[in-house]
Amino acid sequence: MAKVRIAVLVSGGGTNLQAILDAQNSGIIHSGAVEVVISNNAEAYALTRAANAGVEGLTITKKEYHTQEAFEDAIIAALEERAIDLIVLAGFMSILSERFTRRYDHRILNVHPSLIPSFCGQGFYGLRVHEAALQKGVKVTGATVHFVNEIPDGGEIIAQKAVAVQNGDTPETLQRRVMEEAEWIILPASVEAVSAVLSKQKDID
Ligand code: GAR
Repeated sequence: MAKVRIAVLVSGGGTNLQAILDAQNSGIIHSGAVEVVISNNAEAYALTRAANAGVEGLTITKKEYHTQEAFEDAIIAALEERAIDLIVLAGFMSILSERFTRRYDHRILNVHPSLIPSFCGQGFYGLRVHEAALQKGVKVTGATVHFVNEIPDGGEIIAQKAVAVQNGDTPETLQRRVMEEAEWIILPASVEAVSAVLSKQKDID
């Protein structure tokens, strides 16, 4: 069966990228393979994780391309050159335009650190999500993996996992628990589930 060619888009530490690479090594992900990691931040530790795993890493920043359109065109060119089938946003802190998301309809996954529709949409990313959850005083939060469409965090939900908030949690301790108990599990599982479907389609085409 033809493996799905995966690109992972990152901006920072890359623990979710690591979870995907580990899942590939352990065989949890077997219907697809990570072909390239693209970062919009040259300093991202995620690029070191890619290099350590022997995966190609590219840096494409908005700064060097000036407009959103030119930035996205550079990403599209890199994806096309590598015949990428599936894009995974793993801590990618840049909102993609409708032009981009339509081009890859049901071929872009994102992991978000809350139970959508809580604490999501424009302005809710990274630690801010956990700050908002603690401010609201919710007792349960979690993570969501969803397809990406033109609405930030608005695409079809693929998987969710709940995580308990504990007394005395800080945004940092809550972020870590949500990653460990939810993100690092449901993201690789979703990548495999979607890859399995796309890989069957690839065989038919
Ligand atoms: C993760 O918690 C991810 O869910 C979140 O940023 C963190 C990235 O960590 N993403 C968003 O908030 C997107 N809206 P990582 O670089 O270690 O994977």
